[in-house]
Amino acid sequence: MTADLMPIQGYDYIEYYVGNARQAAYYYGKAFGFSVVAYAGPETGVRDRVSYVLEQNAIRLVITGATRAESDVARHQYFHGDGIKDVAFTVPDAEGAYRVALERGAKSVRQPGVDEDEHGKLVSASIQAYGETIHTFVDRSNYSGAFAPGFVARDDWNQNETTGLRYIDHVVCNVELGKMDVWAQYYADIMGFTQLHHFDDEAISTEYTALMSKVLWDGEGRIKLPINEPAEGKKVSQIEEYLDFYKGPGVQHIAITTDDIVGTVSDLRDRDVRFLGVPDHYYDDLKERLDWSIIDADIDRLSELGVLVDQDDEGYLLQIFTSPMQDRPTIFYEVIERHGSRGFGVGNFQALFEAIEREQEARGNL
Ligand code: FE2
Repeated sequence: MTADLMPIQGYDYIEYYVGNARQAAYYYGKAFGFSVVAYAGPETGVRDRVSYVLEQNAIRLVITGATRAESDVARHQYFHGDGIKDVAFTVPDAEGAYRVALERGAKSVRQPGVDEDEHGKLVSASIQAYGETIHTFVDRSNYSGAFAPGFVARDDWNQNETTGLRYIDHVVCNVELGKMDVWAQYYADIMGFTQLHHFDDEAISTEYTALMSKVLWDGEGRIKLPINEPAEGKKVSQIEEYLDFYKGPGVQHIAITTDDIVGTVSDLRDRDVRFLGVPDHYYDDLKERLDWSIIDADIDRLSELGVLVDQDDEGYLLQIFTSPMQDRPTIFYEVIERHGSRGFGVGNFQALFEAIEREQEARGNL
């Protein structure tokens, strides 16, 4: 029933507010293999900001920075550091999606608006999500331009090959203690999502830190939104560190798929993307823990690259996590190659958290 009223076709874009959009766009372009496809700024009539639109296969990033101190982009960046402002969804009817969301209790950020240029018209509207993050509904079915009216096509720094990143698998948020259920209910009520997984602090804990997580999804796999909250531990959890440095809830990581994680991660490492280390005993444990008759991967190569493996009744997955992408220990990326498994690598949480804690300790935040 709800799926008919709130049909979401996919992630339309992820928009960052950063301190220096030109340099961040260059970094994501060079390091991750994105191409700049569109630009908006003072030259195109936008006074207080510049935005670079980057694409790689089905992934679209918008990197926005302020040109003036009075810009809300500058305020956001001062407060949160470089962060994700907007997780936008493609929908067939942006005004309809917005109207339904508001009827179901969502808070409006921007009423439906139609932007037009010679490439057609684009309809969009935005609602509030966790912290200062928003969701924009975008109907681009009648638009054929590079990104949106107000943007011009650009192709800076595009001599790069891609790194094989395909599409967004999931977008994870961190929320405050006690708020996981509130936001799970929000996505159930507003979007009609259901719960795919629930991890309690027993499953996700180390000697020092713990977290709880619920995964909300659209029922079809296009949109998967895990929601983390900190749990009681001996020291400061990675979620608490995030909330402290981001000054509130926000996007923690974005997982992106590849068909060839070995090729993609080799390429990313060559381009100086930094990944979390893996504990020495991890691959020895793995040989015991998993059924290697169904896993088509060279464990020595995975070990050289630091790629993690997990298995469940539906299949297996290969995954790896980057270090934080900006000065504050906030947003990072995951690269994932799925073979049947719809899971999130719960078998790797222990090793992963130990790796995160080593970095936290080095930052003096554990
Ligand atoms: Fe993930």
